[in-house]
Amino acid sequence: MKKILMIEVSPRGKDSASRSVADTLAVRLTGLYPSAELIRRDLAAAHLPHLDDITLRAISTKDPAEAARLKDAARQSDQLTDELLESDLLVIATPMWNFGIPSALKAWIDLVVRPGRTFQYSGGGVVGLAKDKKAILVLASGGVFSEGPWKSWDFVEPYLRQILGFIGIVDVQTVRAEGMNLPWLAAEVVPTASRAVEKLAL
Ligand SMILES: Cc1cc2nc3c(=O)[nH]c(=O)nc-3n(C[C@H](O)[C@H](O)[C@H](O)COP(=O)(O)O)c2cc1C
Repeated sequence: MKKILMIEVSPRGKDSASRSVADTLAVRLTGLYPSAELIRRDLAAAHLPHLDDITLRAISTKDPAEAARLKDAARQSDQLTDELLESDLLVIATPMWNFGIPSALKAWIDLVVRPGRTFQYSGGGVVGLAKDKKAILVLASGGVFSEGPWKSWDFVEPYLRQILGFIGIVDVQTVRAEGMNLPWLAAEVVPTASRAVEKLAL
């Protein structure tokens, strides 16, 4: 393990369940892999842009001259994509917002899921290019979604697994910090999730 990329999304700082569980995971990872580089990318602070016309053109053109001309517009996407491709382990620690992922995380996904860089079309299908990586999802939510009547409302884990699989990351484990808004569960959510971190195959 040479490089670990940890994407953190919640803007709630010390109150954040996903960040708190990610901290526990970071401690375990640095203990197991003391020489690995751990990058913590804070999307709440980064304010990544939505894709606009010029950025889209810059990251999708097949014309080398146009690519050279639009190099600056592609820079942020290039850097984030390189960072992802260079990592051996990707951790995404995110809240559920309105049953899906926060738009800050979607903005990161839009910048790194790129034809020719992280996936490519081939023989009528698609091949993921982000090979030989593992991922861990740390998912915080107010309700419970791993089982029970709200399971089908979860558009976080199914989406993240699908999009990671699309770019070639299929070894994905999940830790849930769920029930943060349920008074009878809330106090135990982070301790339970932190214990689950100890059981991850790392
Ligand atoms: C804007 C917003 C939308 C939310 N939407 C949902 C939701 O759809 N379902 C849910 O169970 N919890 C929802 N919550 C609760 C959060 O998922 C919960 O507070 C979780 O702990 C947030 O993660 P964090 O503690 O890492 O910030 C929402 C919270 C906010 C602020």
